[in-house]
Amino acid sequence: MKIFLDTANLDELRKAAAWGIVDGVTTNPSLIAKEGRPIEEQVRMICDIIDGDISAEVVATESKAMIEEGRGLAKIHKNIVVKLPLTRDGIQACSALSKDGIRTNVTLCFSGNQALLAAKAGAYIISPFVGRLDDISAVGMDLIRDICLIYGNYGYKTQVLSASLRHPLHVLDSAKAGAHIGTMPFKVLDMLFNHPLTDKGLDQFLKDYAKVFQTAGSVR
Ligand code: G3P
Repeated sequence: MKIFLDTANLDELRKAAAWGIVDGVTTNPSLIAKEGRPIEEQVRMICDIIDGDISAEVVATESKAMIEEGRGLAKIHKNIVVKLPLTRDGIQACSALSKDGIRTNVTLCFSGNQALLAAKAGAYIISPFVGRLDDISAVGMDLIRDICLIYGNYGYKTQVLSASLRHPLHVLDSAKAGAHIGTMPFKVLDMLFNHPLTDKGLDQFLKDYAKVFQTAGSVR
């Protein structure tokens, strides 16, 4: 599963990029607004840090304006993927941009039927929101399983991006369900490293080694 970071924060992106495990970035208008710079500027800086798909979302809501805005965003950098909401206008814009060879990420997906529409419109990525379904007492991960099944049945090439991941179990279950991509906040990515047995084991290895090869104050 590809790992994307769901943030527009440059410090977080730089830190995670150094680990060499980040395949791309997703942003949305809320995340961009948090950083205080216009989307074009912020996204260009993100493209300088991470070499992978970078989703940039339109804020227009009418298909014609979405298409125009999407074309503008796509021109910022070759790695930009134009993010569109799963509305009638968004799907219309997705069809038009896909026909032009512009890659799209259809977001705010909450049902298998919506995901089917996005695939038919030629979406490059579909973004089902796991955590927000859990928030309303629906099982968000069931949606990931449904979409993987539906796309598999018909051989759709649209990649399933498991979004709104709030904790490590969401990441694990997305990978088990067969999502192509999981996008997560920096905090969740950082948590994936943790295991008490890793810490305990390393501590023991170093202590054992030091007992034989190191005496107080000297290292051979
Ligand atoms: O990728 C979508 C994501 O930003 C939504 O996450 O936690 O706001 O539901 P959340």
